[in-house]
Amino acid sequence: MSNMKESLAGIREEFDKSMEAVKDSAAAEQIRVAFLGKKGKLTQVLRGMGELTAEERPVIGKIANEVRSHMENALSDVQAKVKAEERAHKLRREVIDVTVPSSMKGAGARHPLNMAINEISEIFLGLGYSIAEGPEVELDKYNFELLRIPEGHPARDTQDTFYFNDNVLLRTQTSGMQIRIMENQKPPLKVICPGKVYRSDALDATHSPVFHQIEGLVVDKGVTMGDLVGSLRLFAKKLFGEKTEIRLRPHHFPFTEPSVEVDLTCWKCGGCGCNVCKGEGWIEVLGAGMVHPEVLKNCNIDPEIYSGFAFGIGVERTAMGRYGIDDIRLLYENDVRFLEQFK
Ligand code: DAH
Repeated sequence: MSNMKESLAGIREEFDKSMEAVKDSAAAEQIRVAFLGKKGKLTQVLRGMGELTAEERPVIGKIANEVRSHMENALSDVQAKVKAEERAHKLRREVIDVTVPSSMKGAGARHPLNMAINEISEIFLGLGYSIAEGPEVELDKYNFELLRIPEGHPARDTQDTFYFNDNVLLRTQTSGMQIRIMENQKPPLKVICPGKVYRSDALDATHSPVFHQIEGLVVDKGVTMGDLVGSLRLFAKKLFGEKTEIRLRPHHFPFTEPSVEVDLTCWKCGGCGCNVCKGEGWIEVLGAGMVHPEVLKNCNIDPEIYSGFAFGIGVERTAMGRYGIDDIRLLYENDVRFLEQFK
């Protein structure tokens, strides 16, 4: 029995010694297993209890229980202590100084197409126009039918697009907005409508299956072709400089009569002829005309009382001229090296 007393005292001493070196909870757990675990030192000593007499057993049992609770208490104390230390250390390590100024590397810039749309919009806002936007998924009647482009009309061939069904398509032009506006508002009207349009065109340096237009519409009493010319001339000068002139060429659009294509003096050479205007001195930028009386009638506006003009500006072409971009694809590739030049 004295043997076992000694062993228990020895275990306790050994335990206290190992505890001095404990620095983290893993080390404490190792000690727990080594002394109190199933194969631990205390358990092993207690296996010898069977050899004791009935009188000796409670004496040794009492000592063994004391040693066990001494170890358990010491372990739970040390676990609490190292856990608190570990937590404090973690908090110190993860501290964030919210007052440190950031490096702000990723500040973006406006896309050149949006810059062009904004610039053009500003000019027309200054002339008293308002801005309207409409759906890119459009009804056939707005995109074609009520603009006097019925089924089978040759103009539909040049404006093929994606059809969701017979009546719903991706709009090929913003001109449908003319109808939407005139259906909902009565003259006097002065509106521009910027937006995306879609055509089944192959992508090359000057064509894209998705591009942007800005539609313009003015309807009032006594609006004439002279008003159209004056407005477009002012637009051209504001956008490309005082020296810019416009040239009208007769054309045909089903929804205007008369219709014109409008050229601007070349923004690169100023009209002498260069590689940008292919020696012409002029660059085509928009289509325009006087709103066809039947289109007015389609929207319940009396052409005997009212008249109007409309125009459609190609945004890509204008942006390319305005910012010196020579390939339309640059506008859609989103290469930051290109886009960063417009900051
Ligand atoms: N929508 C025509 C096109 O995409 C452009 C156009 C021409 C618009 C004449 C107009 C206009 O408003 O009057 O080719």
